[in-house]
Amino acid sequence: MGVLHKLESFVEAGAAGDGEFRDAVLRGLARRPKALEPKFFYDERGSQLFDAITELEEYYPTRAETAALRAHAAAIAAFVGEGASLVEFGSGSSVKTRLLLDSLRNLQCYVPIDISGAHLQRAAARLAADYALPVVPVHADYSSAFTLPAAVPAAGRVGFFPGSTIGNFDPPAAAAFLRRARDLLGPGARFIVGVDLQKDEARLIAAYGDAAGVTAAFNLNLLQRINRELEGTFDLAAFRHEARYDSALGRIEMHLVSRADQAAAVAGRSFGFAAGESIHTESSYKYTLEAFAELARQGGWRSEAQWLDPEGLFSLHGLIAA
Ligand code: AVJ
Repeated sequence: MGVLHKLESFVEAGAAGDGEFRDAVLRGLARRPKALEPKFFYDERGSQLFDAITELEEYYPTRAETAALRAHAAAIAAFVGEGASLVEFGSGSSVKTRLLLDSLRNLQCYVPIDISGAHLQRAAARLAADYALPVVPVHADYSSAFTLPAAVPAAGRVGFFPGSTIGNFDPPAAAAFLRRARDLLGPGARFIVGVDLQKDEARLIAAYGDAAGVTAAFNLNLLQRINRELEGTFDLAAFRHEARYDSALGRIEMHLVSRADQAAAVAGRSFGFAAGESIHTESSYKYTLEAFAELARQGGWRSEAQWLDPEGLFSLHGLIAA
């Protein structure tokens, strides 16, 4: 200790460029039903709004996952083992990472991967300053293929994917993501994945439709981002946020519902909206412990351990590459 570690160079590994955002939005608005990918929420403002969501009374996942990390810190550290390299998918502000870093022994390095470049760089710099640890930030879209920089040792890689962000993928896409992560982390890898649990509908609806309207602002910011970056003409007041629960699929959905018959242009193309028509902007799948263990199996992992918060709202799965 006492050694100063600099922030290693910022690695660009093919994060979404403007062209990709434009193409995805034009494609998504041409679909029936209209849909946009949740990864596009996280521009500068969206990342800030998401951080505000994690502090809401109704949004239990962050608190519950933090409680699980605290309650099981020793068991989780034992699962990670000594001398690991920690690779975090969608690191955001790296708040939960600190809990993990506090209990790990002789970590080789910390590799935060995030789609939001500025947010990533700030969080990584703060972390490198606070911990005597090499930090190798990778600016990438982890939902696509990418590689890790050579600075990350091949042995002892442990993935960390908290937040239940894996719930944004449909189950087949989640299994495919888990398989890519296994290839990226290599043989003998371990993976700690945060997975939100099935629970009563009222609690879920409240978590995604908070009284203060922060989640609504987060959802509507996507239209604002289109206006800013893609010459969009969306009237934000003409759309409202809606959270729906699909019990058959076990998922929460976020929608932007048109309040009227209207049209909006994006990059010079016009799209019509009927009153009540929605843009599906996010799915957030909730799992039972058994269902996620089965999904992990399909993705080439074995769920070795599950750690829950005291209330049993949220789970962390300790996976071992099969
Ligand atoms: C970051 C994907 C885990 O699905 O709970 C929060 C995003 N959306 N409120 C989630 C989100 C609305 C969040 N994840």
